[in-house]
Amino acid sequence: MRVIAIDGPAGSGKSTVARGVAAALGLAELDTGAMYRAVTLAALRGRVPLDDGPALGEVARTIRLDIGDRIVLDGDDVSEEIRGAEVSGVVSVVAAHAEVRTEMVRRQRDWVAGHGGGVVEGRDIGTVVFPDAALKVFLTASEEERARRRKVEGSDEGAAALARRDRLDSTRPTSPLKPADDAVVIDSTGRTAAAVIADVVARA
Ligand code: CDP
Repeated sequence: MRVIAIDGPAGSGKSTVARGVAAALGLAELDTGAMYRAVTLAALRGRVPLDDGPALGEVARTIRLDIGDRIVLDGDDVSEEIRGAEVSGVVSVVAAHAEVRTEMVRRQRDWVAGHGGGVVEGRDIGTVVFPDAALKVFLTASEEERARRRKVEGSDEGAAALARRDRLDSTRPTSPLKPADDAVVIDSTGRTAAAVIADVVARA
């Protein structure tokens, strides 16, 4: 089973690069951030306290979640809603809970096994979810460029909120955002998506 792991902070270009690499190599693509966003939305809808790890773990285990071209939560297409400011503002708090992560990792491994491999993007794919991945990429870009990209994409998440989320993701005790020891670190600042995709494909 061929797995390519793409990790990195918000706005580093993971989604665009993962999509391009998956298309070039004929692999499926999994956006694990969308999964954490969907659990967060389910918790908000259910008014589950965001500091209650066991209760959030229960949410993670009981929701129906379809991750494909669209993100479908309990039969409801939430592809747009999970990118909104409400979810972006608290997703890192939800994702920090070990109970939530255990279930997400289980679903991610299942998904990849069911698709015969894939290009998987997230924060802990090379370090925790697929430590034996054939290729691990850690994508970075300057903080200014990452904030600018988000603005161009029409995101309503400001630069300060983005920086706060990265800080939370990088400093949490469970599966913090960091490059795996054997990851290739690629700085995408000032480079086109096509150039970065070609770079990754050449290493695969
Ligand atoms: O698109 P962007 O890079 O802004 O974020 P995302 O990939 O949609 O991920 C949203 C949030 O989910 C991150 O800020 C992390 O808190 C969490 N996440 C995680 O903890 N582990 C992953 N493998 C993927 C996302």
